Amino acid sequence: MQQINSGVSLVGSGSARLSTVLTNSDLSHVVETSDEWIKTRTGIGQRYVAAAGESLSGLAAAAGTAALEMSGLAPDDVDLIILATSTPDDLFGSAAQVQAKLGAVRAVAFDLTAACSGFLFALITAAQYMRLGVYQTVLVIGADVLSRWTDWSDRRTCVLFGDGAGAVVLRASDRDRLLGFAMRSDGSLNDCLNLSYQTDTVPLVEDKTVQQGTFAPISMNGKEVYRFAVKRVPEIVEKALFHAELTASDVDWLLLHQANQRILDAVATRLAVPSERVISNMACHGNTSAASIAIALDEAVREGKVQPGDIVAASGFGAGLSWGAAVFAWG
Ligand code: ACO
Repeated sequence: MQQINSGVSLVGSGSARLSTVLTNSDLSHVVETSDEWIKTRTGIGQRYVAAAGESLSGLAAAAGTAALEMSGLAPDDVDLIILATSTPDDLFGSAAQVQAKLGAVRAVAFDLTAACSGFLFALITAAQYMRLGVYQTVLVIGADVLSRWTDWSDRRTCVLFGDGAGAVVLRASDRDRLLGFAMRSDGSLNDCLNLSYQTDTVPLVEDKTVQQGTFAPISMNGKEVYRFAVKRVPEIVEKALFHAELTASDVDWLLLHQANQRILDAVATRLAVPSERVISNMACHGNTSAASIAIALDEAVREGKVQPGDIVAASGFGAGLSWGAAVFAWG
């Protein structure tokens, strides 16, 4: 009888290339801000924004294609696609469009929404199917086009976000390289960061109305989110490391959601991880929400920083509020 491998290994990564760079100097013509303020407070130097014709599903498919190429697998090897996004092209879900664009004809595909924790939550969700032996090849994609929902008149938020997509390929293996994980949510803090649906009452027939409207732009209490991140992220990383029977000193790479360089520095200090082991691409991409961890991982792999067998402690955090961590060995 054929043995079913139910361990999880991460065998490929990829990210989309966007064509439009929005610099801090560009933004200083949009709101009252400066390159100096943005760089000192956030570490962000520029970000990419989706141009006309660059759809969420197109970017996600480009990232998925690159990840499959690195893994040496073909689209029709893929059993499952999980698309982590808060900004789908279609509110019914964009994962199936990505499946079609990739030509991953055998794959079932669905969206998962958990803001900046989305990629981490999707990775952990995918691993459960694999551990049960249900699926052998899974494409996990994090993609967001927050520029669609940014309030471009609000200097407190518009300087932070960028668009992008990143992906990893998970493959069933005899050794499980997802060593530990933990996830948390706290909806009582939802007001700190949201993109909520705003409704008007529309009369339909006598005595009956429906609620229709649109999503309001992103609203954020930056100080609260900052406080939340520097407290909760080290805790959840420690928890995932505990499940992995490792400590922070075993970590080769700390890979956090790229929200703010000051958050990365504070979390690394609390965990006693030296700065040279912290992955940061904030200067180039800003905060790309569900895409950020996957893009940063892909760049670090392609630069030869993250090597097969390296221990990576990754953590996503953001709206919900939601936060999570996963410790894995690359490759
Ligand atoms: N340019 C110039 N001045 C600015 C800007 C700007 N872009 N934004 C704010 N300011 C001003 C404010 O108006 C304020 O001026 P005032 O003192 O005259 O009122 C001053 O700078 C300080 O503002 P603060 O909001 O106190 O700035 P702070 O140091 O807290 O930095 C920041 C703001 C960068 C947003 C920080 O709070 C932060 O990074 N928080 C975390 C946010 C985050 O990571 N969010 C994403 C989570 S992920 C997700 O799920 C989407």
